Amino acid sequence: MSSQDQKFFDVFILVIGGLVAVAIGLIVTARSIGAATQNQWVREYPIYAKAVSERLQPAGQLAQPGEPGSEPPPVAAAAAPVAAPLSGPQVFNQACNACHGAGIAGAPKLGDKGAWAPRIAQGADTLHKHALEGYQGKTGVMPAKGGWANLSDAEVAAAVDYMVSQSR
Ligand code: HEC
Repeated sequence: MSSQDQKFFDVFILVIGGLVAVAIGLIVTARSIGAATQNQWVREYPIYAKAVSERLQPAGQLAQPGEPGSEPPPVAAAAAPVAAPLSGPQVFNQACNACHGAGIAGAPKLGDKGAWAPRIAQGADTLHKHALEGYQGKTGVMPAKGGWANLSDAEVAAAVDYMVSQSR
């Protein structure tokens, strides 16, 4: 081998070696990136595929009487659960305190026995009715449910009972 061949061979080996090193570096980098994302893709792909196939379903299907699917859909079960009802003191603080707390605009004040005695004498049913439906009396106007139409009848009644219990 001439010395020129030897020199070419050295450079050639050097270049090949460098390229191999670069290739190994790329493989290692690619594998480490893949390790971070591939598992996630493998896990999520079935969800994705299911979502796509659901989107591709026809909007509706006709069933002849007697075929499966021709039965009327079941009536929805009991309505969604409603929030727990508020207690008497909770309703009072939220809805009634504005007027009855300080005795504003002719409202009988919480704890004012003198103002409540003749009202309590009317009986609980009348008080409930006046609180629920609203009431125009001698001293002012009691708005229906204190203006809180979202309260249930039972919640308003509980607030009335609370006020009465505090004002005897
Ligand atoms: C905007 C003010 C206001 C709010 C809010 C209010 N009230 Fe009244 N309430 C009155 C007034 C004024 C009276 C007195 C009416 C009269 O006798 O002339 C009254 C009277 C009453 C009475 C006595 C009714 C009777 O027959 O003597 C009850 C019971 C009552 N309110 C319950 C409630 C409850 C329960 C709430 C909260 C859910 C409430 N009020 C919120 C103004 C209010």
